[in-house]
Amino acid sequence: MDTPYRTISVKPLSGALGAEIEGVDIASDLDDEQFAEIHRAFADYSVILFRNQSLTQEQHIAFARRWGDINVNRFFTGVAENPIIAEVRKEPDQETNIGRNWHTDHSYDTIPALGSILYAREVPEFGGDTMFSSMYRAYETLSPGMRKTLESLNALHSSRHVFGVMNGRKPDQSGRIGNPELATQDAIHPIIIEHPISGRKALYVNSTFTVQIEGWTKEESQPLLQYLYRHASQPDFTCRIRWEKNALAIWDNRATWHCALNDYQGQRRLMHRITIEGVPLKGV
Ligand code: SIN
Repeated sequence: MDTPYRTISVKPLSGALGAEIEGVDIASDLDDEQFAEIHRAFADYSVILFRNQSLTQEQHIAFARRWGDINVNRFFTGVAENPIIAEVRKEPDQETNIGRNWHTDHSYDTIPALGSILYAREVPEFGGDTMFSSMYRAYETLSPGMRKTLESLNALHSSRHVFGVMNGRKPDQSGRIGNPELATQDAIHPIIIEHPISGRKALYVNSTFTVQIEGWTKEESQPLLQYLYRHASQPDFTCRIRWEKNALAIWDNRATWHCALNDYQGQRRLMHRITIEGVPLKGV
């Protein structure tokens, strides 16, 4: 880090990405200096975590608005009182969870979301952690030849096969994920992007939403994409959040993947998610 933080304490979660921030009460009005330092930690670590934050829905929304405009997810069920907050919920009798596989949210949009602010309202006694992987590390550890090849390629991302009618959704997702008729988004993005905040290069494909490489068939695309998915999910590139009630995390969709572990059958987990609008992505 170039300059030490003055108003917050920042403790890395792993050598790859993620940091826990202490000395912040999100419910209070954060002054501009403290918010600027939180923003800097977000740029430095891509995932930031705050524990012991007691927030009303309105305070969660007010904090989110400091990061940008709110992007209302088309597919997740919204919280009844404030539908701009998406509910990420699993009941004890439900088998599937939301976000089980590695992905980055909204890569199917032409202007993908900056990231999400996830707040833990009810957590299982054990399990239900979220894992993140650094797409900076994924890019930086490829060979110079592979990096050069990928820098000239774009990929197609889509929501259709995940949220659309062709998904063959399990009945226990009903009430949590809906509007399959709205799953019509397709977007082309560079495979290597220049990160809009840090200017660093990051790998930008993910196994949930990326469909194929532009100008290649699906069959031709799969071996390279599958190689990249294996490469980018190496444990050394990851960090893991062990949730507690009232913890809040913010992640950067342009620099990370995440996956929500589904290892808490028979228990309830309720998270509130607000997603922030992003900017168009540039290649390198
Ligand atoms: C998500 O994919 O946004 C959900 C993450 C989580 O529930 O941990």
